[in-house]
Amino acid sequence: MSSSSVPALQVPAHIGIIMDGNGRWAQERKQLRTQGHLEGLKCAKRIVKAASDLGVRYLTLYVFSTENWKRAAEEVGFIMGLVKQYLKGELDFYRENRIRLRHTGDPAGLPPDISRELREALEETCSFEGMQVILALNYGGRDEIVRAVRRLTAAGLPPEAVTAETIRRNLDNPDIPDPDLIIRSGGDHRISNFLLWEGAYSEYYFSDTLWPDWTETDLADAVAAYQKRERRFGGVKP
Ligand code: IPE
Ligand code: IPE
Ligand code: MG
Repeated sequence: MSSSSVPALQVPAHIGIIMDGNGRWAQERKQLRTQGHLEGLKCAKRIVKAASDLGVRYLTLYVFSTENWKRAAEEVGFIMGLVKQYLKGELDFYRENRIRLRHTGDPAGLPPDISRELREALEETCSFEGMQVILALNYGGRDEIVRAVRRLTAAGLPPEAVTAETIRRNLDNPDIPDPDLIIRSGGDHRISNFLLWEGAYSEYYFSDTLWPDWTETDLADAVAAYQKRERRFGGVKP
C-alpha cells in the first residue's frame, strides 16, 4: 500500500516505535553491531519523513533505554556519538519540514555534551507546528513514573492527591496524547520498558523485519493494520 492511499482521518495521531534489531542486522552481515546502529539511524530518518507525509502528529522513537547502559562501553559511546551527530546534522531537515523535536527520558543521566545538543535542538525547533518527534533517550517507562511521583511528593502533596490524573500531569510531556499505535520491529514481542503509562490502551503492532530494513511500506502496513482494529477502552462495542 502506498502512503498516499491511507485515509487521513484514520491515521493514528501518535505512533511510538521500538526500533529494534540493529545489532542482529549487522551480525547477519558479519559486520559490527555499530554498523547496524548507523543503518538504524538512516532508517529512522526515512520513517520520520514517511510519518510526517502520512499526517502523523506525534512520533515517539525509542532511541536508548535506561537499561541500554548495560551494553559494552564502545557500543554505548558509538550510539551517543550518533545521537549527537543526528541532533547537530538534521536541523535543516527539521526546519524544512517544520518538525518539532521533543525529549522524553531523564536528561540528568545523559553525558553533558549530548544533553547540551539536545537542549539546543529542542529550542531551535520549539516553534515548528508540523509533526513532533519525541526522542526517548535515557528513557524507561518505570523511571518516568518514578520521576513523576517524586515531583508530586517534592511539591508536598498529601497521599490523597496522588491520583492517575496528577501522575499523568507530571509525566515528561503531559500535553502529548497517549500513543494510538506502538510498533516494535525486530521480531520480539515485548515492551522493554517503553511508554508503560501512556501505552495502557495503545494498539500494538509487532513486525519481524529488523529495524534497518524498515521502509515507508512497513509503516503504511502497520497503519493499515491499526485501521482494522477495534478500540474499546474497557467498554463494549456499541
Ligand atoms: C535497537 O537495536 C537499538 C538500541 C537498543 C539502542 P539493538 O541494538 O537492540 O539490536 P538487536 O536487538 O541486538 O538486534
Ligand atoms: C529496546 O530494545 C530499546 C530500544 C529499542 C532503544 P532492547 O534491545 O534494549 O530490548 P530488549 O533488551 O531486547 O528487551
Ligand atoms: Mg534489541
